[in-house]
Amino acid sequence: MAQYHEVNLSSKVKDQARALNSLKEEIEAIDWYNQRADVCEDTELQSILEHNRDEETEHAVMLFEWLRRNMPAFEKEAADYLFTKGSLLDLEAQADSKEEEPKEEKEDSDNIFLK
Ligand SMILES: [Fe+2]
Repeated sequence: MAQYHEVNLSSKVKDQARALNSLKEEIEAIDWYNQRADVCEDTELQSILEHNRDEETEHAVMLFEWLRRNMPAFEKEAADYLFTKGSLLDLEAQADSKEEEPKEEKEDSDNIFLK
């Protein structure tokens, strides 16, 4: 299929490609609906477009969660950045420095769910 760039892919990687491509499509739809709603002059149509945008956002987040559960890098990066406060670039620097520390000293002090 055109969505694959290599042959003989594992079923796991094919499923990951399905999720990644679906996420791209959902993100694209969010952007389209968001832009159309922003300039729409008919208030009822504007409300429908905003509703559709938010439905697509739900779909995108569901796909992101599937990826978090099924691609280890998503799990690691989500733990470093999601539901945190403050500068994302500072969090990156902290995450990079934690990777250099011995594992037993690693803290997740920036993740509010782990406090
Ligand atoms: Fe959708």
